[in-house]
Amino acid sequence: MRVLSGIQPSGTLHLGNYFGAIRQHLELQHEHECFYFIANYHSMTTIQDAEQLRQNTLNVALDYLALGLDPEKANFFRQSDIPEVTELTWILATVTGKGLLERAHSFKDKSAKGIAVTMGLFNYPLLMAADILIYRSELVPVGKDQVQHIEMTQDMAGYFNNTFGEVLVRPEARLDVAPVVPGVDGQKMSKSYNNAIEIFGPKKAMKKKIMSIKTDSTPVEDPKDPEKCNVFALLKLLAPAEEIAEWEQRYRASGMGYGEAKKRLAELYEEQFGAQREAREQWANRPDDLEDILRAGAAKARAVAREVMADVRQACGLIVGC
Ligand code: ADP
Ligand code: TRP
Repeated sequence: MRVLSGIQPSGTLHLGNYFGAIRQHLELQHEHECFYFIANYHSMTTIQDAEQLRQNTLNVALDYLALGLDPEKANFFRQSDIPEVTELTWILATVTGKGLLERAHSFKDKSAKGIAVTMGLFNYPLLMAADILIYRSELVPVGKDQVQHIEMTQDMAGYFNNTFGEVLVRPEARLDVAPVVPGVDGQKMSKSYNNAIEIFGPKKAMKKKIMSIKTDSTPVEDPKDPEKCNVFALLKLLAPAEEIAEWEQRYRASGMGYGEAKKRLAELYEEQFGAQREAREQWANRPDDLEDILRAGAAKARAVAREVMADVRQACGLIVGC
């Protein structure tokens, strides 16, 4: 099966990104043909500072390699190294009604917050559909907020195929077990809400953040409902199954304080990501190797993209081979 996903280099990656999307990317590389890319064209809808975009792109590459992306198994590359996706974006725009894009949460949410909507932000789902369709991807592992974009991609593949013949493949979304990870304030964890626990944040600062997770004021001696607790939601992601069951019992019995659960969560966070933080530092000292990996990934991805684009061009009546 061909798997594809992208991650925007628009900020520092956090546990929501990890448990919603990245963990699936890493698991799937062992079973399928995978294409994973750093969506730097997409980030241009929010970042318009060249140095910052370069730095963020490098940081995402370091994060993925440190977390265990194996470049021998998955094709890992920058979106902008496959400029053909911008051509497919245009072609999809010619068969897609404006009404479909007007339903996208991605621009509606920002517009509601008073952020000026550029055509880039409005057309964002078209570029994402092109990213997916250009490799004839079958499965797209993402977090819940991206599902609407995959559904739009299915629609766009249909519009194209109905107009020009069966060329594009309809992909399916894939969600992890925890499609929405809460942040320290209980809202969805997001880099925009200042509530994120970073994957590779500094050890001390991350412990402080974990200790600041919002809980209710149930006293230690009273039983607590684990399903309503933000600390438990994160414990469930980081602790082994037997330990989760123990915490669940301790919540429901009396005598457990939230502070204790937070301390354990901080330990588990360090156990999970501490060694990888060191691996990240090692990768940071090998910029040339990292560049080689991204270029090799792009070469493989581009070969596929060019083949599919030849079929697309043929189907539309554009000249093939130019
Ligand atoms: P952010 O909300 O911080 O801007 P992005 O929108 O860049 O994050 O998300 C990148 C990927 O991580 C997407 O697949 C998205 O669905 C997933 N993701 C982001 N935040 C969460 C979360 N809190 N829970 C689950 N998945 C998430
Ligand atoms: N829009 C996605 C996000 O913000 C990133 C992305 C771009 C993507 N192109 C993609 C994800 C194609 C999956 C498939 O997270």
